[in-house]
Amino acid sequence: MTTTKVPYLDLRAQYLGIKAEVDAAVSHILDSCEFVLGTEVSRFEEEFAAYCGTSDCVALNSGTSALHLALLAAGVGPGDEVITVPFTFVASVAAILYAGARPVLVDIDPHSFTMDPAAIEAAITPRTKAILPVHLYGQPADMDPILEIARHRGLVVIEDAAQAHGAKYKGRSAGSLGDLACFSFYPTKNLGAYGEGGAVTTNNAEHARTIRMLRDWGQDRKYHHLLRGFNYRMEGLQGAILRVKLRHLDQWTEARRSAASKYKRLLADCGVELPIEMPWARHVYHVYTLRTEDRDGLQSALRAEGIQTAVHYALPAHLQPAYADLGYSRGAFPQSEKTAMEVLSLPLYPEITDAQIQKVAQALTSLAAARRA
Ligand SMILES: Cc1ncc(COP(=O)(O)O)c(C=O)c1O
Repeated sequence: MTTTKVPYLDLRAQYLGIKAEVDAAVSHILDSCEFVLGTEVSRFEEEFAAYCGTSDCVALNSGTSALHLALLAAGVGPGDEVITVPFTFVASVAAILYAGARPVLVDIDPHSFTMDPAAIEAAITPRTKAILPVHLYGQPADMDPILEIARHRGLVVIEDAAQAHGAKYKGRSAGSLGDLACFSFYPTKNLGAYGEGGAVTTNNAEHARTIRMLRDWGQDRKYHHLLRGFNYRMEGLQGAILRVKLRHLDQWTEARRSAASKYKRLLADCGVELPIEMPWARHVYHVYTLRTEDRDGLQSALRAEGIQTAVHYALPAHLQPAYADLGYSRGAFPQSEKTAMEVLSLPLYPEITDAQIQKVAQALTSLAAARRA
């Protein structure tokens, strides 16, 4: 066994690969002093809209703000219900509460880890306003049946695409599938800023106009506040850095997909359930998450071998203390609850080396076998 450590993520390796471009972009912002919004942010909006295949992109200060403002632009407010999943990062649920509405949860499909479309109809009430599927781990939810239900019932669809930059559903880009879509550019995301960042993409110009106002104190012109808005503006530095990084995103996605297929080959017989790329999906492997009933044991055994892993997420939203008042108890969402106990994310990032992948695969294979024996 070698002593090489394998980190879960290596943001520094990525920076070193694009250092000259990033440093020039940062220096340009320092020279221009366009620290908040400005030309670089506007250009990033145009480029990211084109990348997603939408008419509009509005850049914001986080993915959470994106969810909040997408919900407000869709007209969601007090008295409304929004359907989402409990097996997600908690922001998907929290943003619905920010908008004053009630999150109504439905279970996930255990193979895709995303919203089970068959669970939606039973959750719809006269108060339902929107459906918010999450493209978890970089794989789009099964959008066609979700969009069909929404069309039939007159509901808005808001994609939580925070983990799915560049992902595709039946050839269509994440971010262009619903009425509105929300991205996060948190540094660890597939397209990550060097600080906080987020965006809404949409083909609805009216929604884009509303979100543009809401992110900047609801102003339709300077110091004239048409709406009660927020300070959710993107910083100039983040816009400039994201423009640089967007140029590399497809190549990084290919590297992630290639690492995922190496894991698939090397781990085929190791007795854990590997992630499945659903027939509809081009998965971008924001995280490479497997399932095993021995999750905690394997995680600590891997740690002892110098291999960092992560758990996304150990407790579904409805079992989090902060959201106990949503009124769901243990047992309400069996798939989400079982999944939360079994998921383990392996190191995967564009710069991961073959030697690191091999080290992880070898360690996992022998540890899994030893722990079964
Ligand atoms: C699925 C999901 N939704 C929303 C968010 C919120 O994004 P941010 O951290 O940029 O506010 C995240 C990010 O962590 C996420 O993973």
